[in-house]
Amino acid sequence: MRQFLLSPVRTVVAITGASGVIYGVRLLEELEGEKALIITETAKRILEAETDHRVAQVEGLADEVYHEDELFAPVASGSHRFERMVICPCSESTLAKVALGISDNLVTRAAAVCLKEGRRLIVVPRETPLSPAMLRNSLRLAEDGAVILPASPGFYPRPQSVEDMVDFVVGKVLDQLGQPHELFRRWGD
Ligand SMILES: Cc1cc2nc3c(=O)[nH]c(=O)nc-3n(C[C@H](O)[C@H](O)[C@H](O)COP(=O)(O)O)c2cc1C
Repeated sequence: MRQFLLSPVRTVVAITGASGVIYGVRLLEELEGEKALIITETAKRILEAETDHRVAQVEGLADEVYHEDELFAPVASGSHRFERMVICPCSESTLAKVALGISDNLVTRAAAVCLKEGRRLIVVPRETPLSPAMLRNSLRLAEDGAVILPASPGFYPRPQSVEDMVDFVVGKVLDQLGQPHELFRRWGD
């Protein structure tokens, strides 16, 4: 595995097994800086079921790729200098584990590192309807410092396609990361 080179921003991107893995793919395409990628096994299967993308192609969008079982990877440690993490999409299973402090794979461990080190953690859940447990887990995670950014596209930019709706959500993630973009037309522009 290649180590992160000197770079302004290092981001861990995790794609987990929720519907809407295309959000994670578009994020990888648009996100600037060094990217380390973890795609869970369920997400890989959903990627091939929901899109025409192949796992290898998506992995090619990142600078480093880790398997979810690689708990000895650099991003599993707080001493490794990554600055932020986005879980996009985030399954309710992964969200629940992060909210409860369970670090049983590289996704949940890297997220736990973000929380304990005070680094930015953005989770993009995609589920509906939401059970009380799911709502409680999101509240717990938000109170612990994560940004809960549901995959919930706005309609005020008048999307013309599924791609426009995907780009709205990805643009909201980039807003949270402070990266300028033109993925959707802002209200008032
Ligand atoms: C086709 C398919 C679609 C799924 N969609 C969702 C979803 O939208 N949201 C969700 O929270 N879980 C969804 N799941 C369930 C998760 O994949 C499951 O909880 C899994 O254990 C998540 O594992 P991971 O978070 O490690 O990827 C889906 C599962 C399948 C097979």
